[in-house]
Amino acid sequence: MNDFVLRGNICYSADPDTILIRERAYAVCTDGVCRGVFDELPDKYRDLPLTDYDDRLIIPGLCDLHLHAPQYAYRGLGMDMELLDWLNTYAFPEETKYASVVYAERAYSMLSEALKASATTRAVVFASIHPASTALLMEMLERTGIVSYVGKVNMDRNSPDTYIESTAQSAADTKRWLEDTIGRFKNTYPIITPRFVPSCTDELMAKLGSFAAQYNVPVQSHLSENLGEVEWVKELCPDDPFYGAAYDRHGLFGSTGNCVMAHCVYSSDEEIALMKERGVFVAHCPASNMNVGSGIAPIRRYLDAGLNIGLGSDVAGGHTESLFTAMVEAIQNSKLYWRVIDNDKKPLSFENGFYLATRGGGKFFGKVGAFEKGWEFDAVVLSDHALPHPQTLTIREKLERAVYLGADVKGMTAKYCRSKRIL
Ligand code: GUN
Ligand code: FE
Repeated sequence: MNDFVLRGNICYSADPDTILIRERAYAVCTDGVCRGVFDELPDKYRDLPLTDYDDRLIIPGLCDLHLHAPQYAYRGLGMDMELLDWLNTYAFPEETKYASVVYAERAYSMLSEALKASATTRAVVFASIHPASTALLMEMLERTGIVSYVGKVNMDRNSPDTYIESTAQSAADTKRWLEDTIGRFKNTYPIITPRFVPSCTDELMAKLGSFAAQYNVPVQSHLSENLGEVEWVKELCPDDPFYGAAYDRHGLFGSTGNCVMAHCVYSSDEEIALMKERGVFVAHCPASNMNVGSGIAPIRRYLDAGLNIGLGSDVAGGHTESLFTAMVEAIQNSKLYWRVIDNDKKPLSFENGFYLATRGGGKFFGKVGAFEKGWEFDAVVLSDHALPHPQTLTIREKLERAVYLGADVKGMTAKYCRSKRIL
């Protein structure tokens, strides 16, 4: 078994407003489970192998609740359009290339390497409509050691001729892919993935909803992201009282199991109430919301309402897979929201941002995202040695600075996922 002890400056969220900081403390993992954090190592753990990370920071692995694997290849490109034009001009033509498993292998190996090298230990991922490339992506992510949910995307309307499926094909391919991948991997699982309401007929949505229930598989999609998109959904679904109802009608909004919806920039009161009732997770993707001109999601409101919420990189609407960047942008965006949109919604604190990237998003995966007794053990070890400073800093200050200055790129020392060192 992977039984071990890590020593260092251990930081993790107790709740959205509180980061627990334990200086030069011990985090213990036995039988694949975190046994907690101790200031003095208990006698019963003294014989376990101990890695002393000295003055480095030890934080929970970060959880990316939303990213598009086949968009990684053009991250940082095409940032000049709003969502719907951006999809037609950049995203769909790029994703079409994944009909070729040769292209997929090349591009997905780059994504897999990048995720492995990042501070992310858990990810919820959109693939493309192609089952073979999607299964290949799952194999590659499995090899990285991170834990992921991966979705074969479904699209049977309002899509380019070269990147669309018939309803029957989409359903049949999804069923076959589910049966092929459920239980096949240790750390990689399928997730039902209607792209968004404009891309899926009711007939297809109904099929996907029945698969989610029948196979007990979670659901991911996009929700109330961008003004043009929201208007379009109103035209497509005139009888639905709000966007999310178009998923809920088909059992794709948390009624049968875990569900994560990306963005939620323009969710109505009714939509928020149903998300709360169903436990739907919000994947907040601030970079994407800026890059494709969507707006600013009301995250303070969601935290106050007690919604399940985490962060997403939304590569490549978001230009980077770094969740450190996402934390900073979530905090920055909340300040603009407070200053420009609603003075009553106080900005996110650093504690709030750190919570979203760890414990908030971790809940989607179970007992994940904090060094609590009995939880799964995911950890990232960071050095700030490449970020010199002349003054003495508290550990809390070192952590904040590590996030703002990008220690996930400049100071990654080690990464553990599910009790195993993977970097
Ligand atoms: N809505 C439907 N597809 C997409 C996508 O690929 N990216 C984003 N940001 N929104 C979407
Ligand atoms: Fe997205």
